[in-house]
Amino acid sequence: MSETTPLTRRTLVSLGGATALGAGVLVLSACTPGGGSADTAEGSGGSGGSGASGGSVKVSLASIPVGGAVSAKLGSTPIVVSQPKAGSVVAFSAVCTHQGCTVAPQGSEFDCPCHGSRFDAATGEVLGGPAPKPLPKLDATVSGDTVTVSN
Ligand code: FES
Repeated sequence: MSETTPLTRRTLVSLGGATALGAGVLVLSACTPGGGSADTAEGSGGSGGSGASGGSVKVSLASIPVGGAVSAKLGSTPIVVSQPKAGSVVAFSAVCTHQGCTVAPQGSEFDCPCHGSRFDAATGEVLGGPAPKPLPKLDATVSGDTVTVSN
């Protein structure tokens, strides 16, 4: 049967073509969502902040209440920046040391919404709840009205 041979070859060829095409589409779609790691254009929570550059972020000093704190991002890491006394600024990772939820400023504390851990906004120390360790401290320097936080 000489008629079946060409048919089979054609089928194989078209299958091969489809496979190659499918692989191409897969490669293309894998490239599309991961557009690099520099998607941190959201900048600071304050006015006049110029956003993240490298391993630091700028926050307007005026945006941080004295005796309170604000949330920000250092790259993709959530952070909290507090001003326990006027002109004195400290910053911490906002990743709860219990199971990694993001803590939020609450007056002079950071509160974790997941299991109720509470941290001192001036020191990062655990005030209550299941968190085993203080929040990791970050470097914060004040220059004029600009706070630069880095790790
Ligand atoms: Fe924060 Fe559990 S993750 S208290």
